[in-house]
Amino acid sequence: MRIVLLGAPGAGKGTQCKNLVAQYGLLHLSSGDILRRHRANGTELGEKAQSYMDSGALVPDEIIIEMMTEEIKQAPDSGFILDGFPRTVNQAVELQKALAGTGRNIDAVLNLKIDDRIVVERLTGRRSCPQCGAVYHIKNLKPKVQGVCDHDGTELVQRSDDSPDVVANRLETYYRQSEPLVEYYKNNGTVFDFDAGRDPDEVKASVFEKLDALVKT
Ligand code: AP5
Repeated sequence: MRIVLLGAPGAGKGTQCKNLVAQYGLLHLSSGDILRRHRANGTELGEKAQSYMDSGALVPDEIIIEMMTEEIKQAPDSGFILDGFPRTVNQAVELQKALAGTGRNIDAVLNLKIDDRIVVERLTGRRSCPQCGAVYHIKNLKPKVQGVCDHDGTELVQRSDDSPDVVANRLETYYRQSEPLVEYYKNNGTVFDFDAGRDPDEVKASVFEKLDALVKT
């Protein structure tokens, strides 16, 4: 199965991807995580991306398209889930061309819909583990010991782009550059909309229901 996951910052894309990986054995390809890995490793690509990410703008298409199409080429036949890519119509067109070259296609587009007010609360309260990438929330998903990762005991950190002013820019960027993708995919295949403002397990159950039906067809 090859899936594209759409949704505003903080809609819960990363959170739901963990469930999808566990349930369907898909490879999780998160453009944000890959960029943050480049930054942590001090690569040239990471340095180029830094100022865009810190301000809440999109990294230029040419950088992202090359980075993600390379990752997709190496993905196993069992399938993948794209989280955060594509994020512009141009990226989607280039993704389609790259997939066509390998005889593959996108099977489903999942769109997580969320209210801006919830986004701000989720992102400013998010904490993550710099070691294993586990994601927590200071109110909704607390670690067992405050400020420490349940899995490896590492001190949790706040993402530098989760400050209220950068979150506002990220939302503005989303509406201007990424939301038009929903219409693009509605015109080019099937998009499943989900109310992502609910409890994470309720969102998970509705996503699994749709995908289970898709797998059976
Ligand atoms: P990226 O890392 O992709 O950030 P994003 O899309 O803004 O998404 P987030 O990771 O912030 O949120 P999420 O939806 O995954 O939510 P999460 O599950 O963590 O991108 C970062 C930057 O990289 C971009 O700004 C851009 O500069 C650059 N970039 C990346 N891709 C690019 C591309 N294709 N083109 C150009 N530039 C690109 O959840 C958030 C919080 O809420 C967590 O604390 C979680 O515990 C909590 N939570 C989740 N679900 C629920 C729920 N149902 N109820 C209650 N709490 C919940």
